[in-house]
Amino acid sequence: MKKVLAWLQGTRNLLIMVGSRKRSQLRRPTWIIALISLVSIFLVAAYIFPPGRSTCYFFSSKGCGTYDELPPNIFSRELTDDETESRIVVKEILRSNPIRSKNPKIAFLFLTPGTLPFERLWHMFFQGHEGRFSIYVHASREKPAHVSRYFVGRDIRSESVGWGRFSMVEAERRLLANALLDPDNQHFVLLSESCIPVRHFEFVYNYLLFTNVSFIDCFPDPGPHGNGRYTEHMLPEVERKDFRKGSQWFSMKRQHAIIVMADNLYYTKFKHHCRPNMEGGRNCYSDEHYLPTFFHMLDPGGIANWSVTYVDWSEGKWHPRSFRARDITQDLLNNITSLDESTHFQSDAKRSNVITPCVWNGLRRPCFLFARKFFPESQTVLLTFFANFSRL
Ligand SMILES: *[C@@H]1O[C@H](CO)[C@@H](O)[C@H](O)[C@H]1NC(C)=O
Ligand SMILES: *[C@@H]1O[C@H](CO)[C@@H](O)[C@H](O)[C@H]1NC(C)=O
Ligand SMILES: *[C@@H]1O[C@H](CO)[C@@H](O)[C@H](O)[C@H]1NC(C)=O
Ligand SMILES: *[C@@H]1O[C@H](CO)[C@@H](O)[C@H](O)[C@H]1NC(C)=O
Repeated sequence: MKKVLAWLQGTRNLLIMVGSRKRSQLRRPTWIIALISLVSIFLVAAYIFPPGRSTCYFFSSKGCGTYDELPPNIFSRELTDDETESRIVVKEILRSNPIRSKNPKIAFLFLTPGTLPFERLWHMFFQGHEGRFSIYVHASREKPAHVSRYFVGRDIRSESVGWGRFSMVEAERRLLANALLDPDNQHFVLLSESCIPVRHFEFVYNYLLFTNVSFIDCFPDPGPHGNGRYTEHMLPEVERKDFRKGSQWFSMKRQHAIIVMADNLYYTKFKHHCRPNMEGGRNCYSDEHYLPTFFHMLDPGGIANWSVTYVDWSEGKWHPRSFRARDITQDLLNNITSLDESTHFQSDAKRSNVITPCVWNGLRRPCFLFARKFFPESQTVLLTFFANFSRL
């Protein structure tokens, strides 16, 4: 870098020299020699720093140096110290090669009030795949009664969680932290007590272990349940144009889980300025906005923008559709597993849907591995179906 700067400095001096000569004497030979030397300097420079291989281009509109790969919006204003520090930490983590484990595992993080109603179904899902998964249970209300040996002893230290409160995000982070302690865990899936698997283990394992992005749901919602929840107290770090919405049921790569651990700046912003009952009676729900906004700002190309957990919002109500035992048919399960595009329902007056195809490492693939919400009563019928759809 120093050499390049010295060169540029030299070139500038040369230009000044040439300029002044031109004005004073206009001696032709000197002018031509200067021009030739300028051209050769550029040729040498282009040879040493070929575009594409280096991070520093001559005459590049992106500029020079380490900020090349960051989203362009950060240049629209001067960053605060906290932001610069935060971005450099995130960038270094993303750049470092992820730890390669000889025995890679998927971590299943269950966020539940108490006993898991579908534990027998999950047991069937995990059976025969010992050593390729690890389970963590955050029970926010009461100690779960486990019926599966895979779940016994997997409860982590938990705290109470209020619906829509920031304690939800804290619990997600607590689950991630516990699961990160095991270096074999390479991918992390957050699930609720009303989630079920809709694919067999092998399919889920390969889908998540070999993905090159995290499945974090993320979309702009111009309506009251999206941008309507934004407050300007989040400035300067979080601008309205960067505010995003998405389902809380994420799955993420290890590097992304570490970035979440490293974040204090955006975490604190959302903790104070995205919560129920804010001034003016406004509500914001961090579990639907913090991670989508954070990843949109810091690694937009690293997330898929859809969640691998299916949910049916088509009824347009406050809560998604919940399936009962009588709703469970082969047809329903086939419909869920064959979807290869995801739909985002916006809350603006037009109520427009944004449909995006599900692309996995460049290939069009089915979107969903899990589904919610299911009533506990549906477990019996799901168990009989599972032998069938687990072959999918
Ligand atoms: C997700 O959306 C962002 C824009 O917010 C885009 O830059 C990125 O490429 C999208 N991810 C994928 C995998 O398409
Ligand atoms: C499955 O999808 C088809 C085609 O979209 C639809 O007609 C049918 O009602 C769906 N079945 C269930 C049970 O959702
Ligand atoms: C993931 O893989 C696809 C296809 O190879 C590629 O287009 C995309 O840029 C990759 N994304 C990341 C974040 O590496
Ligand atoms: C399982 O699949 C077969 C073939 O598709 C079907 O005939 C059978 O009824 C299914 N079993 C259940 C329990 O749905």
